[in-house]
Amino acid sequence: MEILVIGAGALGLLIAGLISHNGGKVTLFSRRSDAVEYISRNGIKIVAQNIDYVSRVKCTSVIERDKKYDLAIVTVKSYDTPEIAKLLGENLNTDTQVLTIQNGLGNAETLARHLGQQRVYPGITMQSSTRLGINEVYHAFNGLTIIGEYAGPPTERTKMLADYLSRHGVPTGVSENIWRDLWFKLMVNSVINPLTAIMRVKNKNLLEVPSVDLLIRNILSEIISVAKLHGHEFDFDECYEKVIKIIKDSGDNKSSMLQDIENKRRTEIDNLNGMVVSLASKYGLEIPVNNALTVIIKGIERTAKQ
Ligand code: PAF
Repeated sequence: MEILVIGAGALGLLIAGLISHNGGKVTLFSRRSDAVEYISRNGIKIVAQNIDYVSRVKCTSVIERDKKYDLAIVTVKSYDTPEIAKLLGENLNTDTQVLTIQNGLGNAETLARHLGQQRVYPGITMQSSTRLGINEVYHAFNGLTIIGEYAGPPTERTKMLADYLSRHGVPTGVSENIWRDLWFKLMVNSVINPLTAIMRVKNKNLLEVPSVDLLIRNILSEIISVAKLHGHEFDFDECYEKVIKIIKDSGDNKSSMLQDIENKRRTEIDNLNGMVVSLASKYGLEIPVNNALTVIIKGIERTAKQ
């Protein structure tokens, strides 16, 4: 299988590096020609708890119509999805399937508008990585990736794809209801990302903050009410326990939003808590805790740029 990984951020470098290290054929796409040149020359360096290695991948800043990749894995920031979806729609070979494992809601829908639903697999990942340099990431947690079909239950092709990724260093399961799983991942990111970015702590240190538990519970219960209005029922205790477990499992990671704030980059807040706030207001619901987090992150983004 020929894989094209779209995006050379913390997640893209990790996924490309893992698949290539485990024997897969990978090309990494980045719009930054300096990154393409550097990674082509030096490979991707993955630093994990007990081992470090360099993984060699092909790199490109051009997507060619006649190059038949079997799968493109989209890892770019959610605010870049419209531009990437257009680029893929115009340039990717029509036989190439596309998997999104990005944070936030709305990515699969945007990709499907340019590529067609049949070609798009929505997915989520608990893989946790911190970018250390242009070609270097720290792999904090080898979390599960889950993929599904855009419409309907998983098919033989979904299972084959999950099996391929699992055999190539990216443990992957299939989901009977990926749209519901995307809401659960939204809860994970809406708790971990803004709180760690505001408090400037690694995931594991979040739980040491006095009284943070009530804040986590409030974020979750607001999102669960909006999810219900949107057609997805969740049990509060089950979500709470799973989110706490993910915070601990990914403990050594700096969340992607903390990395964005530290590097003075735009964050994904609009596709996380911000998106839940917009949906809530469409349903006539106020969710003050998620709203406050959205406003605070927007304020931090603004001052970081000045
Ligand atoms: O965005 C992130 O940082 C990641 O999705 C996760 C799983 C929360 C780990 O930090």
